[in-house]
Amino acid sequence: MLDILNAAIASRIANTEANPKVLADMHRWLDSHDERYAVVVACNPAGILGYASLNPYYAERASYRGVADVSYYLAPNAQGRGIGTRLMAELEAIARNNGFHKLVVRTFPTNIPSQKLLKKFGYRIVGTYEREAILDGTFRDVMALEKLLS
Ligand SMILES: CC(C)(COP(=O)(O)OP(=O)(O)OC[C@H]1O[C@@H](n2cnc3c(N)ncnc32)[C@H](O)[C@@H]1OP(=O)(O)O)[C@@H](O)C(=O)NCCC(=O)NCCS
Repeated sequence: MLDILNAAIASRIANTEANPKVLADMHRWLDSHDERYAVVVACNPAGILGYASLNPYYAERASYRGVADVSYYLAPNAQGRGIGTRLMAELEAIARNNGFHKLVVRTFPTNIPSQKLLKKFGYRIVGTYEREAILDGTFRDVMALEKLLS
């Protein structure tokens, strides 16, 4: 999972994180998830192909308890084979089961596979944050999308 995340960070089209993560970061991230804020992992006998997760969203505010931030990452050689679709379907079923009423996602306008996946699942484009992040000294816009589950 760490390798997959770091490949996404290095690609510069999948994550606003500027620096690679280390194993301790991944352990901390996994510890911040549980049955409600679930992580679903796609694997085959050779190993992990990718993962998707429901992440806390303003978790310190009880009023946002029904909203989860969604993220999804596949290994480069696992992309474009329907695995993201399967992960997203599984994650959404878990989100409904766990009582979330809304899913939110942020993605780069340049990330076409991500946007196609979100469109396929009926996410609505809320808008674009202009100059939201700085990567390699360059401003990057970030799109916000949402899907109401109930
Ligand atoms: C975004 C990502 C999870 C999509 O998963 P995936 O398994 O590659 O996507 P799927 O094969 O399930 O395809 C989903 C849709 O996107 C389209 N798609 C997939 N890859 C595409 C590509 N390279 N170019 C254009 N469209 C693409 C498919 O056609 C499909 O739509 P359709 O079913 O209507 O034809 C995956 O590409 C990925 O991990 N990318 C790198 C990490 C990343 O960008 N994460 C998102 C951070 S916000």
